Amino acid sequence: MSRTHTHPLPWYMDVSPGSGGLPPRSWYAGSDAGRMSLNGDWRFRLSPTASAEDASFAQSGFDASGWGTVAVPGHWVLQGAGGAPAYTNVVYPFPVDPPLVPTENPTGDHLLTFDLPTGWPEGGECVLRFDGVESAARVWLNGEELGDFKGSRLPHEFAVGGVVRAEGNVLAVRVHQWSSGSYLEDQDQWWLPGIFRDITLLHRPDGAPRDFFVHAGYDHRAGTGTLRVECDGADGRVLVPGLGVDVATDEAVTVPVEPWTAETPRLYDGELVTAGERIPLRIGFRTVAVEDGVVKVNGRRVLFRGVNRHEFHPETGRTVDAHTMRRDLVLMKRHNINAVRTSHYPPHPAFLDLCDELGLWVIDECDLETHGFVDLEWRNNPVDDERWTPALLDRAARMVERDKNHASVIIWSLGNECGSGRGLTAMAEWVKGRDPDRLVHYEGDLSCKDVDLYSRMYPTHAEVELIGKRAEDPWSDPALDARRRAMPFIMCEYGHAMGNGPGGLSEYQRLFEQYERCQGGFVWEWIDHGIAHPEHGFAYGGDFGEELHDGNFVCDGLLFPDRTPSPGLIEYKKVVEPVRIEAGTSAGTVRIVNGYDFADLGHLEFVWSHEVDGELRASGPLTVPGLAPKAQTEVALPEGGEGVWTVRAVLAEDAAWAGRGHVVAWGQPAVGAVVPAAAAVGSRPEAADGGIVLGGGVFDAATGALVRLGDVPVQALRLDVWRAPTDNDNGAAWQPDERYGLRWRELGLHRMRHRIDAVEVGEDSLTVRTWVAPAGVDTGLRTEYRWTADGERLGLTVSVAPEGEWRVPLPRLGIRFGLPAAYGGARWFGGGPGEAYPDTRAASMLGRWEMSVDAMQTPYVRPQENGARADVRWAELTDGDGAGVRAGGGTPFWFSARRWTSEQLDTAGHRPDLVAGETVWVHLDHALQGIGSQSCGPGVLPEYRLDAAETAFSFVFSPVG
Ligand code: GAL
Repeated sequence: MSRTHTHPLPWYMDVSPGSGGLPPRSWYAGSDAGRMSLNGDWRFRLSPTASAEDASFAQSGFDASGWGTVAVPGHWVLQGAGGAPAYTNVVYPFPVDPPLVPTENPTGDHLLTFDLPTGWPEGGECVLRFDGVESAARVWLNGEELGDFKGSRLPHEFAVGGVVRAEGNVLAVRVHQWSSGSYLEDQDQWWLPGIFRDITLLHRPDGAPRDFFVHAGYDHRAGTGTLRVECDGADGRVLVPGLGVDVATDEAVTVPVEPWTAETPRLYDGELVTAGERIPLRIGFRTVAVEDGVVKVNGRRVLFRGVNRHEFHPETGRTVDAHTMRRDLVLMKRHNINAVRTSHYPPHPAFLDLCDELGLWVIDECDLETHGFVDLEWRNNPVDDERWTPALLDRAARMVERDKNHASVIIWSLGNECGSGRGLTAMAEWVKGRDPDRLVHYEGDLSCKDVDLYSRMYPTHAEVELIGKRAEDPWSDPALDARRRAMPFIMCEYGHAMGNGPGGLSEYQRLFEQYERCQGGFVWEWIDHGIAHPEHGFAYGGDFGEELHDGNFVCDGLLFPDRTPSPGLIEYKKVVEPVRIEAGTSAGTVRIVNGYDFADLGHLEFVWSHEVDGELRASGPLTVPGLAPKAQTEVALPEGGEGVWTVRAVLAEDAAWAGRGHVVAWGQPAVGAVVPAAAAVGSRPEAADGGIVLGGGVFDAATGALVRLGDVPVQALRLDVWRAPTDNDNGAAWQPDERYGLRWRELGLHRMRHRIDAVEVGEDSLTVRTWVAPAGVDTGLRTEYRWTADGERLGLTVSVAPEGEWRVPLPRLGIRFGLPAAYGGARWFGGGPGEAYPDTRAASMLGRWEMSVDAMQTPYVRPQENGARADVRWAELTDGDGAGVRAGGGTPFWFSARRWTSEQLDTAGHRPDLVAGETVWVHLDHALQGIGSQSCGPGVLPEYRLDAAETAFSFVFSPVG
């Protein structure tokens, strides 16, 4: 605790969780009791410090006509009402002296005058509920102080029955940006003060329950559900008409039911009927347990195909409207995601209703993180200081009590990145005591002494494999080691989706499928937190002038800030698809594997298509016999011969989250043989027009540079090894792997020099010998371009021999050249439609694709290498009349094209910095370095490393149109 403060501390610096409020209870969307939303435009005044203890604004009659307004719910820093967002990851943005916070403590006074609606019931109690205020608030109604609270993403209620009146109520809320609670809320995200969730006035009729707890387990052996609704403060009945249930509260009843699972989210509508209130219930029967070292729901192992979701909207920050919440879940379901960790705090309560309804496994996480103490070697960490334990327990209770009636919530998480300590143990004990029917998770204490699961973030594949074998390095205490080794394993975070990537997801998935103990993971994270910005497009750390910030580390999601899926999400969808479609054991067959944990394939239909060189020849339905979960079968494809066979599993009926025909899974059981472009040889080089003409190509006689191909001017065709480093190339300081993005720049791969050593005109070829190397070193690539031709077709073989010491892999190995801006149409036969890299190519589908060069760009919030297409057999760039250039490969190649150079991409900080020039820059790459996940996780796996080695590769160019 602090060295410096004098007693007593003002309430907002006190470690106490608050005063004057009601004990926590469940949240539910509606009942027959009266309620009134107090959302709307509130009067607002911002002060730079919290020192003004003047509370006169809370008194009736205070004249706030000179104040501005803010929308509630909302963050004042996003409403032009003063102050600005600030982003830090680990570091606290104020001196660490718990529980003290800076004198500069932006303070927002909020005022609302309201009348009760006509017909507001007489009698009973009234409760004022706050669903989320960052970071601390003190509340007055009609001049009377109700109390104060901390715990930003947790509910707080006050009894106001004696204070509220029919007309002219004045509700005053003073919000401080910083409080002792800020020490417990050091999550990696923007600091965004304000009343950011709903405020509601609730009538509590006499005879209404204070709270209730729905227990609905499922016995998979008997096929029955057991329901018991504990009711606090009232007696009543529990009605579930669909099950013929009508029992007293607190009485258990067992009936045959369909269970709830994330795959089959069967909810039964019911009602809790008490003398004072009728409360609708949505009951999902399911039982969660660890058995035989595995998490089982309803008796079966589950595999989490998860994401971490922060609440975020690019305009409204953590104020997320109902439409956006549903949109998030619909997008998750459409991308085969079946689990969400509510990193790192309980979400808006309505989100969990949607999880129940649409079907997602939820790890509900408490609003607790003290990560910034790591840099102080965890000195004074509140989670290991008993004085803070009441605040921790208060947070645990507010989460559990609020969310306990959701079928989707199967795991409680104590928080994130708090180190370890007695406070966590106290929380875990309380949670287990209150709700023994769910599991407890926390990642930050590797001893796992308080939890039911072994959970880690960003381990390497090799370590996951060891854990899968229960053969990981032992924990120091043998008893704890044995306990942990017997636990199920999940990765609460993996696959860091920052910028281009993450790479290596398929390899993790194989481990989850191979080792029973490895029950999947949660990709970090769902959405980029880029804030809409007039100049930068989307802003990240530093863009608001923060003195301390962590740059674009806040943009590490599978969705761009505007919720457009990034290639990472498309890849994840394919990697985790619940049905595998692959080549069967004999030619002409396809193997179908049901990878669901609970569902059969009755909700899917299968269709096949057959293409030759990208042209559809035939398609039709494929009959697949019913398959139980984990069962597989092989089915014959229709007769049809060579070419590409694609089989898709699509929804047979409309679902709540996608329409009939939505593709759930696909595979290409046959892709046809690769036919290399026929060699272009035989023509003789000739001197003409001051240059050299060879087939359709015109070359500069002095430099041997190709200047024209048919009618198309060509610029600067040469070997290229540079790419604008991705966030994963740059890596994170705390990762052990080499940070190649930095090493490449040190070596100078972004400023390679090309020395022409010889231009040799032969009988049937033009050969240009060069030395390609950066300044200052004697390491380089001896590079030879050998041009041949056959009529208009022009062949190029590039031979590369590294010399000197190459300690780093190459970013890429290929050629780059420029075409005039008019050649902005792309067509190719190869992988598509989206971007792919060596370790992010699961979703790349072989076919013929066509789009503009502009559409080939992936708009990462911080510009970086992007847009490559995998496995390309040929590619064309054409102008508006369809005329242009075609390149075929000796072997399949990687194709990208953009209206700026890699160097320009490299220097851009935000999307608007990229401005189309006069040239379309085309990359035809023989090989690319993988992507990995090193912006926070492991680097590129060895098999995806592009080491410099002697290589030759070739292309054949021909005019189009
Ligand atoms: C984890 C942390 C997340 C986030 C992520 C990196 O350590 O739990 O909140 O910071 O790393 O983006």
